[in-house]
Amino acid sequence: MTIRSSPFFILVVGIARNVFPRTPMDSPRSITQPATVPGDKSISHRALILAALAEGETTIEGLATGGDVRSTARALRQLGVRVDETGGRVIVRGAGAKGLETPEEAIDCGNSGTTMRLLAGVLAGAGIAATLDGDESLRRRPMGRVLEPLRAMGAHASGTRAEGGDRERAPLRLEGGVVLRGRDHRLPVASAQLKTALLLAGLRADGPTRVWEPQLSRDHGERMLLAFGADLRRDADGWIGIRPGALRSPGSIRIPGDPSSAAFLIAAAILLPGASIELENVGLNPTRTGWIEVLRRMGASVETEARGVAAGEPAGTIRASGGAALVATDVSPEEIPALVDEVPILAVVATQATGTTTIRGAGELRVKESDRLAGIAASLRRMGAAIDETTDGLRIHGPTPLAGATVDADSDHRLAMSLAVAGRIASGETTIRGAEWADVSFPGFYDRLSGM
Ligand code: S3P
Repeated sequence: MTIRSSPFFILVVGIARNVFPRTPMDSPRSITQPATVPGDKSISHRALILAALAEGETTIEGLATGGDVRSTARALRQLGVRVDETGGRVIVRGAGAKGLETPEEAIDCGNSGTTMRLLAGVLAGAGIAATLDGDESLRRRPMGRVLEPLRAMGAHASGTRAEGGDRERAPLRLEGGVVLRGRDHRLPVASAQLKTALLLAGLRADGPTRVWEPQLSRDHGERMLLAFGADLRRDADGWIGIRPGALRSPGSIRIPGDPSSAAFLIAAAILLPGASIELENVGLNPTRTGWIEVLRRMGASVETEARGVAAGEPAGTIRASGGAALVATDVSPEEIPALVDEVPILAVVATQATGTTTIRGAGELRVKESDRLAGIAASLRRMGAAIDETTDGLRIHGPTPLAGATVDADSDHRLAMSLAVAGRIASGETTIRGAEWADVSFPGFYDRLSGM
């Protein structure tokens, strides 16, 4: 395969899975050994933010290198926190009791919804006046979901409404000088960004704060808060409670590899006859690995081996190999939170499975960095897939051979990488416009894919 890139697009020349079916003479090709993936993006945001709020110095190893986590580091520096990089480690000198400083200029969260929502919680809790802004994609995303509960705690926080519109979006404005009231929040959607933002706000409220979500979303915030000594507990009825209090640095944190980044390489290995891959030190938190279950159900050969705990998170090895016959499956609404970022790449895999794969209850994908349901359906259709969009999901009829086409990443890192994997198995050339968005979470992704 060749991958040629320019600043605006990338050209992926694939080996068509259906053109070169596996024969007994194929020999397994091993891919980039030993292999790891960049540090987990969600855990990295939380490690930086909690280290910034804690007493003491925190050394973070394996911090995610993508644009989103850089946005969080930049924002914390604007709030007066020292964040230094030395020899692959990041050292954060916590603001602790001294507290964060009022930023002089608007904080640019770039493309990162996690940065914006988590900082909204932190700043409201700290009573700091600030403006949070972001790029075009982030300015389109719903922010009322975090502002409303913060206002219910007493925060003076508002978003920007389009003329005649009632939806609040970025830029967000927080006025300082208010001590929040601790209270209970029943979230309308399972969202880790929202849950973590409210727990962070609760750290500085005048009494306990509790959060309940309809299904358990990724629990990295809870794990990291506990690692920093927060008084947090999960009740049997699903409520997560936090009491206000100071955080203490645990000294050092090692961030495991991002399973969501691993998913693209694992999917490529599954789809390429004769390929095999082994990724070490990947996060195996069950609130993130729902996609592995789905791939197994489809008949793919994927194994995990837990090897220990990093940053309070289970981590280990994922192995996968290609060539197995894939069958369609039904991804139910209950499964979505544990694979919310992997729906686009699962859709690519489903184009090669026999039967109709249904993905249901995934409406949240319409308000991610792009409308991921519409984007992946449109692009895969251009490549020859038979795929229908429903209000909250997808129906993919397979198997269909894919053919190279010009497709658009819609300024969305996960669409860019999903389409590159599709291009890898398509016949002919695929041109991905906006391929550079992959850097948001996985710098170096195309080199890794072309090494396969
Ligand atoms: C994230 C949570 C998810 C996910 C996003 C990162 C986080 O969003 O899609 O990429 O770090 O909390 P929601 O849980 O808000 O859906």
